[in-house]
Parts: sequence; structure tokens; C-alpha cells
Amino acid sequence: MPLRRTVRPLLRDPVNTLAGLARQARGEVVRLNLGPFRPYLVSHPDHVQHVLRGDWENHPREGVFWKPVERLAGRSILTEGPDWESSRRILQPLFTARYVASLAQDMAETIDKELTAWEAYAREGRWIDICEELARLVSRIVIRVLFGDKISVADAERLAPAYAIAATSFTSRLLVPFAPEWFPMPGDRAFRRAVEVIDDVVLPLVRQARRDPGDGNDIISALARARADEDGPAAERRIRDDLVSIYGASGETTAVALTWLWPLLHDHPEVAARLYEEVEIVVGRGPVDASCLPRLTYLKSVFQEMLRLYPPGWMMPRMALRANLLGDVPIEPGSTLLISPYVTQRLEEFWDRPDEFDPERFAVDRRERRHRYAYFPFGGGPHLCIGQHLFYMEAPLIVAGILARFRPQVRAPRPLTPFPGASMRPRETVEVRLEPVAGGAGA
Ligand code: HEM
Repeated sequence: MPLRRTVRPLLRDPVNTLAGLARQARGEVVRLNLGPFRPYLVSHPDHVQHVLRGDWENHPREGVFWKPVERLAGRSILTEGPDWESSRRILQPLFTARYVASLAQDMAETIDKELTAWEAYAREGRWIDICEELARLVSRIVIRVLFGDKISVADAERLAPAYAIAATSFTSRLLVPFAPEWFPMPGDRAFRRAVEVIDDVVLPLVRQARRDPGDGNDIISALARARADEDGPAAERRIRDDLVSIYGASGETTAVALTWLWPLLHDHPEVAARLYEEVEIVVGRGPVDASCLPRLTYLKSVFQEMLRLYPPGWMMPRMALRANLLGDVPIEPGSTLLISPYVTQRLEEFWDRPDEFDPERFAVDRRERRHRYAYFPFGGGPHLCIGQHLFYMEAPLIVAGILARFRPQVRAPRPLTPFPGASMRPRETVEVRLEPVAGGAGA
């Protein structure tokens, strides 16, 4: 696609422009001419499978998009090569369905406590920025999963804003990716200060956990036990890097995913009504606990369909190391490949009525047969997200907890524009007013 046809729409609405280009090409490879940068947009499920799984070693997570991640999270599970492999080996067993289930009760209690505080919003009839509120809630949950009771309230409160600054202050480096490290750029100082705060909070906790790992099921203790035989400062650094990575990969994605839910429910009252009914039957007026989860089946379909239309991990860039063929398109070594579930999950070739929100597609009794890589909100291959079980436990606890107390009213412009940050959030603010459910805990 020539520069003159792509640049303006890409600046206005990059996510939908990429989806439109892939649709025009019917899922074939598209090369974008962006001046000196000419990435390939890869959307056909066969090609996605080839890059993420079949030939994954030839398509590492390298290049300009990954540099900022490394500056913040070091050589962690979010990188590639032996460092990634060693982190993955240690972290994956900590996020299995069984392990995550052991966190459920504690998580349900944290959520219940936080949602009780939301009752004040309902009493005041206030419109709240739901993305901000969910981010605060999810951050508290994640901090508890990572650090258990080893972190003080004051330190936990310092971590969230420092991370938010660190994760957004390198935009100028993303826009001018060829600027050398030594060249000062806007945001650099804020980034460095934020990283200092993160390290100031996390490193003492890591040192303490290494001195006395205990037998707790929080992640910092588990990492300290797993790296007990490794050398002091290097192991400290690795544990810090993985904690920061998990905090980033799990917090924002979950909060942003759940932000898209409320406008979807508002625009589809028949889906909302069925969901309210399910929550009423399964949870009733009581607090939500882990025992409710297996029976919240419609809620699960709603999440699956929400993640089809609005996958927070919307872009997985890869670099081709060797020459390669995708379909009949030759790819030169060093090329950037753009892979996006948002784009593939809306292709007409693989989805009937792709722009329509229809949770029935994922109904347990109507499992549609489809290509494994026509739907990949959690990625695929060796880098498959390790947080899926956590998400499918945490998100229903949060949403069922909200719906057992409140009926959220929504105020937001339409259509919402997907904004391509680290996670794909709506560019516009989504506001929610919580109305208490008659006779519910929030009333
Ligand atoms: C809606 C929620 C989430 C979405 C949409 C999501 C999406 C993704 C995607 C697309 C990838 C693949 C990245 C790539 O191939 O380059 C990924 C990887 C990862 N996710 Fe998630 N994620 C979510 C929640 C979580 C949670 C709760 C955790 C907490 C443990 C988590 C931890 C990770 C980690 C550590 C990786 C890197 C795995 C590796 O490279 O080996 N994610 N996630």
C-alpha cells in the first residue's frame, strides 16, 4: 500500500485502518509503505500460525517495538532467547488452572472489599471513568497475587502510578525509534524517575524474599524459591524483571478488556438481560466466590466474544530473521511482521457477520469449528499468554461482583475508536453510573 493512501488514515485510526487493509486483501499479506519503515501486515490464520508457532524461532520478538519493553522490564519473560526460556520455565507452572485456583478465595475477598467501596459512587449517583476505576481495582488484585501480604499499603500505592508513568513516557522513543540511547528525548527523565520508584519498592521486597522465601503462594516467594541457587545480584535483577513484566502484562490488559464490556452490554440489551439473569441465579445477592465460576457459562461466552472484537493485546510484532515465504510473498530478512488478533478476528473469510457482537458464537453447545488461528486474543505458540486462567478467574469474579450489586448505566460517544497503546483501549472516556440492584448488596 503506497504511502499517500495509508499515512493519513493510519494516523487517524490505525487499528481500523489496518483491519480495513487486511479485509480488502482478503487476508493475504499486505506490505505497508511508511517511508523508511515497510512492515508486512500478516492476517491469514495460516500465516499467523506459521509465524507464531510453526516457524517461531525464525520470528523473534525483536525490533523497534520491543526495545521500550526491555528498557522497562529488562531481560524477562517478555523477551526472547535463553532469558525468556528460563523465565517461562519458572513462571508457567505458577499460572496453571490449579495454581490459580488456589488464589481464588483470596482474590474474591479483595474484590468484594473493593466493590463495597464502590457503593459510595452509587449513593452519590456519580459518573465514574470505568477504565480508571477498573485499573485501580485490578492493580490491587495483581499486587496481592505478586506480593501477597509482603508489601505495605503505602508501597503498593506508589507502584501503580510509577508503572503508569514508565509505561507511557517512552512514546517519543517509539515515534523516533532510531534515536540513540544517549540522545535525550522528551519523557526520558520521567521514565528514569518512575523506574527508580519501581526499583525502590520492588528490590527490597525481592531481597527480603530471597533471604526468607517461606512457603507462600504469592509469585515473589515462588520466584525466590525457584532462583535460590542463582547468583545474588543477577538473580535479584531477574526476579525484579519478571515481577515488573507480570504486573504490566496482567494489569492493564484485564482492566482495558473489561472497559469495552459496558458499552457492549448497553448497546445489546438482550445480552445484558441474559447476563443479569445468569448472575442472579448463580450469585444471587451474596458475595461472589470461586464456587460460582463454573456456572457462569454465559458470562464466559460474553468475554470470549468481547475479546474477539476488542482484544487488548492487539498487536504482536515480530522480526523475520531469515528469508521466508508467506503464501507466495517473499519476506526479506530483517523485515517487521505485524500480527493482530483485532485484524484477523474481523476477517469475513473466517467470521460470519464479523462486526456483530454475538456471544452465541461461543456457546458451549454450539462450538463452531474454526481455524485455531482465526481467534487468538491470547497469542499462540511458545509465547502463548500464561495469564489466561488468571483472566478467566479474575474477570468473572469482578463482573459478577459488579452485577450482583449494580446495574451500570453507560455514557460514552459512539462509535468508540480503538486506541493503540500497549493495550488497546477506547480513545474516548467510558463513563458509568452504578445503580443499585433492587434488594442487592449495593442497594
Ligand atoms: C485480557 C487479558 C489478557 C490478554 C488479552 C493477554 C494477551 C496476551 C498476548 C496476545 C500475549 C502474546 C504476546 C506475544 O506473542 O508477543 C500474551 C503474553 C503474555 N501474557 Fe497475557 N494477556 C492477558 C492477561 C494476562 C495476565 C492476567 C497475565 C498474568 C500472568 C499475563 C501474562 C502474560 C505473559 C507473561 C506473557 C508472555 C509470555 C511469553 O512470551 O512467554 N497476561 N498475553
